[in-house]
Amino acid sequence: VSAGRAVLAAVFSGLFWCGPAWAGDTALGEKLFDTCRACHALDPQQGGMSGPHLAGLKNRTVGSAEGFDYSPALRAARDQGLAWDEARLAAYLADPDAMFRGGWMSAPGLDREDDRAAVARFLMSR
Ligand code: HEC
Repeated sequence: VSAGRAVLAAVFSGLFWCGPAWAGDTALGEKLFDTCRACHALDPQQGGMSGPHLAGLKNRTVGSAEGFDYSPALRAARDQGLAWDEARLAAYLADPDAMFRGGWMSAPGLDREDDRAAVARFLMSR
């Protein structure tokens, strides 16, 4: 009986932690986004940044922020019709040049896979 209880307790605490862990992930992503703010705005009206604005990134076509002068590599991706999702963004953050050879963004220095996933999730959520 007590073994059964231990299993039940483990299952319930697992369920209990699912929600808060996910919410924490988005909050962590927002915090980590601070490393991107030097170059990226979340407000589409804000000009004067060295990178394109990142508003509404979910399913947004690569290289399509109006008025931003992209590298040939990102323009080629746009012409292929590639779009951003969580997995593509997480991979881009790991090694931008591997995904779009000759592009102008250097790796933002998020060494942990979890951190890259959290930033990607945050950006896809807004
Ligand atoms: C030092 C400046 C700089 C930093 C820091 C930086 N980026 Fe970038 N980013 C750029 C530039 C410049 C481009 C355009 C690349 C090109 O045209 O090849 C870009 C492009 C992008 C794109 C493609 C946007 C589109 O319209 O297709 C995404 C997504 C992106 N960055 C996300 C991030 C995230 C997330 C971070 C932080 C973890 C980050 N960047 C940090 C400069 C930066």
